[in-house]
Amino acid sequence: MSGISSGVDIHPAWLPSEAFGVLGSKRTLVVGSGVLVETVRDEVRGASSSYGGRLLDGDDDGSGHDGDHGADVVLGTGAAFGDDARAAAGPEAKAALDEAMAVAGSAGDREPLGREGFVVARRAGVTVVVGGDGPGLLYGMFHLLRFPELLTGPGRPAERHEPAHDLRMLDHWDNVAVHPVMGQVERGYAGGSIFYDDGEVRADLSRGEQYARLLAATGINRVAINNVNVHAREARLLTEDLGEVARIAEVFRPWSIRVHLSVNFASPIVLGGLETSDPLDEKVQAWWADAAARVYRAVPDFGGFVVKADSEGQPGPFAYGRDHADGANLLARALAPHGGVVHWRAFVYNHRQDWRDRSTDRARAAYDHFAPLDGRFEDNVIVQVKHGPMDFQVREPVSPVLAAMPRTRLAVELQVTQEYTGQQKHVCYLGPYWSEILRFRPWGAGALGSAGIAVSDLARGGLAAVSNVGDDRFWTGHPLAQANLYAFGRLAWEPELDPSAVLDEWIGLTFPGADDAVRASVHEVMDGSWRTYENYTAPMGVGFMVRPGHHYGPDVDGYEYTAWGTYHFADRDGVGVDRTRATGTGFTGQYPAPWRDIYESLAQCPDELLLFFHHVPYGHVLHSGTTVIQHIYDTHFAGFEEVERMAERWETLKGRIPDDVFARVAERLDEQLGSAREWRDRLCTYFYRKSGVPDACGRTIY
Ligand code: GCU
Repeated sequence: MSGISSGVDIHPAWLPSEAFGVLGSKRTLVVGSGVLVETVRDEVRGASSSYGGRLLDGDDDGSGHDGDHGADVVLGTGAAFGDDARAAAGPEAKAALDEAMAVAGSAGDREPLGREGFVVARRAGVTVVVGGDGPGLLYGMFHLLRFPELLTGPGRPAERHEPAHDLRMLDHWDNVAVHPVMGQVERGYAGGSIFYDDGEVRADLSRGEQYARLLAATGINRVAINNVNVHAREARLLTEDLGEVARIAEVFRPWSIRVHLSVNFASPIVLGGLETSDPLDEKVQAWWADAAARVYRAVPDFGGFVVKADSEGQPGPFAYGRDHADGANLLARALAPHGGVVHWRAFVYNHRQDWRDRSTDRARAAYDHFAPLDGRFEDNVIVQVKHGPMDFQVREPVSPVLAAMPRTRLAVELQVTQEYTGQQKHVCYLGPYWSEILRFRPWGAGALGSAGIAVSDLARGGLAAVSNVGDDRFWTGHPLAQANLYAFGRLAWEPELDPSAVLDEWIGLTFPGADDAVRASVHEVMDGSWRTYENYTAPMGVGFMVRPGHHYGPDVDGYEYTAWGTYHFADRDGVGVDRTRATGTGFTGQYPAPWRDIYESLAQCPDELLLFFHHVPYGHVLHSGTTVIQHIYDTHFAGFEEVERMAERWETLKGRIPDDVFARVAERLDEQLGSAREWRDRLCTYFYRKSGVPDACGRTIY
């Protein structure tokens, strides 16, 4: 593959034309009707024209069946398989079709296949995909690209696939107008916005169209198109720019993705000229009801609103002495007649703290604000909870809010954009982290009561994540950061997937034709990269040792004496935040057993979260057998060396993967290496100078 380039201006990410090679070589019948079935038809038509197959549209002699040679692949929605469609599919398809239809139907406790589900069966050399409806068919077709073996070879028993979560959402922190500090995309590391260009919705939304297709291929079905911090220009998307929102929604519709808007809680004032946005005021309620009705006239399949209220300076119900349930229910009632939902974010805390005040604990805030409101939210409110109690750090415990609101629909919010995980300059594959979060069992894994229930089961409002794309030609700046976007979609669909296998899916699609050694090398560079990043940055869950403002690079005390509540409390004797009930902020008490006791106990707390929960002397001995200070030195040296090995491994790929991808990643690995060295040296130096304890291995520490 030497000297090849990706060939097009925009990198195809996980949908290069070669991904359609096997499907495109087949005779494929598509049955059914509607926008999404047309999308599938267009895809098959395009693939067939490149790879020698044929789209059988049922038009030749009234059937797609030429003589005794029927379809190799039959794709259709369950309802469309009447006699004509069966005849068109040909007799060879009968066995697979009967089996697929049986598996799609109800049996015993099993419900019939939902709209987004699909069944794949292969018998007698014919592969059949039955979609519950258009969305399921679309997802089923993309499934065949991930697993082309489903299109060749021996028969296979029918597989039934349905998403674990109905709502699989990406949140864009894109601003319409370039923000003076945050730019066009807040926490965006991949250029400008694919939707907006300095103050306006782009006239050309073709990038958005390609994006929608990529998202559909990984199972995403919702997109919030503007930043949760809704500034003056962005607020107007809700009113005067509805025509533009409708244009964006049109781009997503053929891919089964519904559009949501972030809205400003003070909209009745800033857009409606009212004097208040008090949720209990009737004029305010009427204003929102009208606003919602107008949105649905422009965008009939609109998804709903995302709201960041009373958080980091955004307006909210507190100004009127109301609480978050009052605020969320106001919007929910306006949306309910139209079938919309409100994603109300639980990221609420005091960002004007005094570092000397050890009793206020930012980690406690979401639970303290929201848990008492359980049961008060309307059915179409989804409380969107950041996965950890702080803010997307490289290691945090799972937020206790997720186990504390059984009568509320909760969504787990993840951050695909790598704000605190290397800003798409560093390789940091987050699949393993998200998988740990989604599989975490707040009541433990035993057999009693709620034990065994995982975070993913608690997320009845689905998953949401902050997107990492921009108008960069690789979409994500760092080409390997595409894998995070892909993995988010896959894990939102099926949280039990092995993130390492998901990585291999992504590698297989993105590097078509690569031999096993190449795939293994890409895998090797990426799979452990989250733990590598953790190794050379903030230790044992303590977080926030980054440069203030932009959050890139090390600054151990950067946030230590600020108002943001992000402290590590390192002094000459020890480091870490005492969040115990016995002597600290009491945060451990927000967890149910067994975690409230495991985290409370110095003896039982897992090493990787020790400094999140405890303030310990540098000589404290970890479960690993080493001391805290020596662990800091060792992991920082090891992390840097791991990056050196990643870079060496990457070098072996020169000429074996497309040159443009190779070069971009190589360039970023140089930066990562320099940054990891800086992290290592600054962290080791800081803790050496604080503690006075030398490195047992005698390495150079300044
Ligand atoms: C982080 C991030 C902000 C963002 C905020 C949020 O604090 O740095 O840019 O606005 O999270 O999630 O609302």
